Amino acid sequence: MTILVTGSAGFIGANFVLDWLAINDEPVISLDKLTYAGNLQNLASLESDERHTFVHGDIGDGDLVDRLLAEYRPRAVLNFAAESHVDRSIRGPEDFIQTNIVGTFRLLESVRAYWNSLPDADKSAFRFLHVSTDEVYGSLGSNDPAFKESNKYEPNSPYSASKAASDHLVRAYHHTYGLPVLTTNCSNNYGPYHFPEKLIPLVIHNALAGKPLPIYGDGQQIRDWLYVKDHCSAIRRVLDAGQLGETYNVGGWNEKANIDVVHTLCDILDQEKPKTDGRSYREQITFVKDRPGHDRRYAIDASRLERELGWKPAETFETGIRKTVRWYLDNQDWVANVTSGAYREWVGKQYA
Ligand SMILES: NC(=O)c1ccc[n+]([C@@H]2O[C@H](COP(=O)([O-])OP(=O)(O)OC[C@H]3O[C@@H](n4cnc5c(N)ncnc54)[C@H](O)[C@@H]3O)[C@@H](O)[C@H]2O)c1
Repeated sequence: MTILVTGSAGFIGANFVLDWLAINDEPVISLDKLTYAGNLQNLASLESDERHTFVHGDIGDGDLVDRLLAEYRPRAVLNFAAESHVDRSIRGPEDFIQTNIVGTFRLLESVRAYWNSLPDADKSAFRFLHVSTDEVYGSLGSNDPAFKESNKYEPNSPYSASKAASDHLVRAYHHTYGLPVLTTNCSNNYGPYHFPEKLIPLVIHNALAGKPLPIYGDGQQIRDWLYVKDHCSAIRRVLDAGQLGETYNVGGWNEKANIDVVHTLCDILDQEKPKTDGRSYREQITFVKDRPGHDRRYAIDASRLERELGWKPAETFETGIRKTVRWYLDNQDWVANVTSGAYREWVGKQYA
């Protein structure tokens, strides 16, 4: 048995593959285009692990995906591949449309053809799991109940609109063609290997570098935060036991305003890596002009996943965020390679 994981060199995909192979021996075929967000160093510990095969390529390359499916005959495909940064989607939506919509469509087409070719037993055991986001549901008012799976889709950024479109395609492939699909919609993740363009790793990096800690608007935007390894355990649980064609919200029951997250990071850094002048990292906080169309609040109701599949996060925000800060402090080489761009050269050498 084998699984195919797309987007495996990114933040969540890499954590998923590392955790998967740490807890079982089922081989993984990794497919990643290695965009700026894909970092093969995230998977460096698997370099000589024969259970892991890395393939450099695009989910939208039908010939390549057809070949991989025919050769490795996976029992499941997990789709993490995406353009994922809202700010980038505002500056240039094109890549988001190409990968998140067209790419997912092409991947679904290849998977559908492969699935149709399987013998009956393999066909009924097969799963296509699509990893998506809570951002498809739009923005909540401060007293609104948290997003349920039944909330209507109201995406507000090109990123969330492209993810919403991909979710709809996945759903349609189940209803139209019977493809055995599962979709997860998760809140904001944090943890190891997070590209330092996103809030938490950016703040840790800038704090240590003595740079300003930029906060959009008034910093009162509320997000639900989930430690990435809890997201990975939820995906494994949905893959094992999810009901076909259904969607599952994944969240940490940890609603926090951005400014509070940044204060927490500064306080942990003050303890773990105090500045030589005795001042607090909080003094580096700088408020900047808000992002256009910035969603005010996301909150996830993950009770279905808990009730039906018995999943619960293992970390609270307090335990997960401290682990995360420690990981960044212990892995400054990784951060330096990413921020200097050296990780791209490393990829170049790998593929010379
Ligand atoms: N980060 C979060 O907080 C969060 C929360 C909920 C859902 N998600 C979803 O989880 C998935 C993974 O997110 P992430 O934070 O790890 O993103 P990421 O940007 O860190 O990684 C994405 C990976 O996909 C690869 N990729 C991009 N286009 C590709 C293509 N056309 N073909 C193959 N590979 C391609 C990139 O090289 C990169 O390795 C995304 O679908 C995202 O929408 C993320």
